[in-house]
Amino acid sequence: MSRADIPTFTLNDGNRLPSIGFGTYKLNGKEGVDSMTAAISRGYRLLDCAFNYENEGAVGQAVRQSEVPRDQLFVASKLPGRHHKYDQAVVTIEESLYRTGLDYLDLYLIHWPNPKQGIYVEAWQALIDAQKRGLVKSIGVSNFLPEHIDTLIKETGVAPAVNQVELSPYFAQKEQRAFDAKHNIVTEAWSPLGHASALLEDKHLQEIADQHNKNIVQIILRWHFQLGVLAIPKSANPERQKQNLELFDFELNDDEMAAIERLDRPDGRTNDQDPAEYEEF
Ligand code: A2P
Repeated sequence: MSRADIPTFTLNDGNRLPSIGFGTYKLNGKEGVDSMTAAISRGYRLLDCAFNYENEGAVGQAVRQSEVPRDQLFVASKLPGRHHKYDQAVVTIEESLYRTGLDYLDLYLIHWPNPKQGIYVEAWQALIDAQKRGLVKSIGVSNFLPEHIDTLIKETGVAPAVNQVELSPYFAQKEQRAFDAKHNIVTEAWSPLGHASALLEDKHLQEIADQHNKNIVQIILRWHFQLGVLAIPKSANPERQKQNLELFDFELNDDEMAAIERLDRPDGRTNDQDPAEYEEF
C-alpha cells in the first residue's frame, strides 16, 4: 500500500485529517522519537499526543527530523484539566506549541470535560481564540458527552471538529457516534484495540479475520474506518505498526459489521472512566 492511499476524513471546518492516526501515549524521550519515526516511515501521517503525556517534545522532534514535509504530517495535542481557566488555557496551548518546536498544531482538543469543575466553556473559548491566531488549525474535544457538546455550542456557537472518545468493538458508542454525526463532528477512537485485552482473542472477530485472511486488529481497525471513526492505534512495534495500516484493501460486509456491533457491552470500557463522573487534571 502506498502511503498516499490512506483516505482522509473532512472536518466541519473544511480541514482534512488522515482516517487513521498513531497513538503516542507512553512513547516518550528518545525511544518515543524512534517509535514515532518508525511509524512515520511505515506510513502514519497523524500523531496524537497530549500535554499530560509529556511527549509533545518527542512528537515535535519526530516531525521536525522527518523527511516527510510538514504539510503532509498532522500533529494533535490536548489541554489538561488543570488548565481550563481561560488565561491558563491560552498559555498552555502556547506551551504545547513551543514544546513541539513547530509553527502550528493541526488539532487541539480539550482532554476531559471535568464536569464537576464545570469550566470547560472557558477552555473552549481559549481553543477558539488559538485557532483564530493560527496556533492550531482545527479544534475539538475528547471524552465529551452530548450534554457537554450541547453546552459548548449554545455558549459559543462553535461546534468541535472532532470528539475523541474511548471506542472499540466492546464499547461501540453508538449513541455518541450518532450525536457527533448529527453535528458533523468526526468521532475519534482512543484505545481502539481495547488496550490489547481479551478483545484481541475474541472468537467472533477471529472468524471474520479468517474469512478475509487478515488478523483481528485489522478487522477492528477496518470496522472503525467503515463507521467513519478515526482510530489512533498505538504500537511500539514497527511490524505491528505496519500491519495496523493494512486495512484499505478489503471490506467488511453488512453482516460482518452487524456481528461486530453485537459485541458491544455496557461494561466494555477498559478502565472505569465515565466522563460524567471521572475527572482528570
Ligand atoms: P505494542 O506496542 O507492543 O504493539 P490501544 O491502542 O487500544 O490502547 O492498544 C495498544 C496496545 O495494543 C499496545 O499494548 C500494543 O502493543 C498493542 N498492539 C498494537 N497493535 C497490535 C497488533 N497488531 N497486535 C497485537 N497487539 C497490538
